[in-house]
Amino acid sequence: MAPPSIDELAAVAAALAAPGKGLLASDESTGTIGKRLEKGGIENTAENRRAYRELLYTAPGIGGAFSGVIMFKETLGQCASDGTPFVEVLRRAGVMAGIKVDEGLVPLEGGEEGETSTRGLETLEAACRQYVAQGARFAKWRAALRVEEGRCPSDLAVKVNAEQLAEYAAICQAAGLVPIVEPELLIDGPHSAETFAAASEKAIAACVAALWRRGVALEACLLKPQMVVQGTECSAPRAAPEQVAAATLRVMRRVVPPAVAGIMFLSGGQTEEEATRNLDAINKLAKEEGRAPWSLSFSFGRGLQASVLKIWSNAPPSRASEARAMAGALAEANAAAARGEFAGRHPSVTSAPGATLHETWRGWRTDVDPAAAPPPAPALALAGV
Ligand code: 13P
Repeated sequence: MAPPSIDELAAVAAALAAPGKGLLASDESTGTIGKRLEKGGIENTAENRRAYRELLYTAPGIGGAFSGVIMFKETLGQCASDGTPFVEVLRRAGVMAGIKVDEGLVPLEGGEEGETSTRGLETLEAACRQYVAQGARFAKWRAALRVEEGRCPSDLAVKVNAEQLAEYAAICQAAGLVPIVEPELLIDGPHSAETFAAASEKAIAACVAALWRRGVALEACLLKPQMVVQGTECSAPRAAPEQVAAATLRVMRRVVPPAVAGIMFLSGGQTEEEATRNLDAINKLAKEEGRAPWSLSFSFGRGLQASVLKIWSNAPPSRASEARAMAGALAEANAAAARGEFAGRHPSVTSAPGATLHETWRGWRTDVDPAAAPPPAPALALAGV
């Protein structure tokens, strides 16, 4: 069967960016989800990972809150306990299945300390064909960029990651998947919100230019950036949601063309409550000013899961229904924030105030056991891209 046309992919992107809906990022690699499960005393087995994801995918009301769910390749092939494939469970709820297609971060040769590029391009085309056959409609590729005043992201990191993201996006579109382009700027460090804003502008602008040069149809992709926030170790008082909203919208307006269907923010180590309140403020401000050409929504991982994991890991399966209810409440709260209508107490406040799964440096230094780290990605393949 011929892959979908760009118009068909654009329709999928528009549906993913439907007003008031967002994405659940449940695509943690086996290692990353394992670390989180083990923290809660749960063994990192395929069955425990499956059971945890089933809980998320069967939470009440997810069809009203999520347009799509991003999965890890293992999960894409797994089934609910009644034997129904997860892809079908989601489809019945009106939710599209997506797939993380990158193979993780590797040190960037020639970059500053801790800078990375992302692996997976060499095998991407064949992998995409398989994921489409398994029912995936969209894909995600994460680039991670360090921010450090005057040093990071380096020009090299910006360029290499932008070109990798563009190459990934082109391959996905040719295979029939809507690409989510994720240039994540890491919030770790003492940088100010201004430094973060400048870094965001530079990184996103480079991505957009690379997408354009590579012939990627912008209306058939989604952008997944970080909100413009100060570093976790910044000494200034925490910015109010209204300040985060103003800074974020300023950057997005400067560099994201209106053709892009949706800007689906990651939670990136903010607490669940911060992520929701900041997203809500972004949408309130965009509405008030009456000018935002794209949908402004969420593609949260930790922001939709920290409290759920906390409840579930304490005593599965006896607290499964409580954990499922929390997953539903977080989904609903963020859907409200995507409409700029969140009000009242945040669901996480009841069971896990300030819950965050923030992990310092979600870069190669902690994501990958250095002993098992693959060799640096050949910066190579990109030269002619
Ligand atoms: P967080 O919301 O936990 O940052 O994760 C989103 C994601 O998918 C990062 O790639």
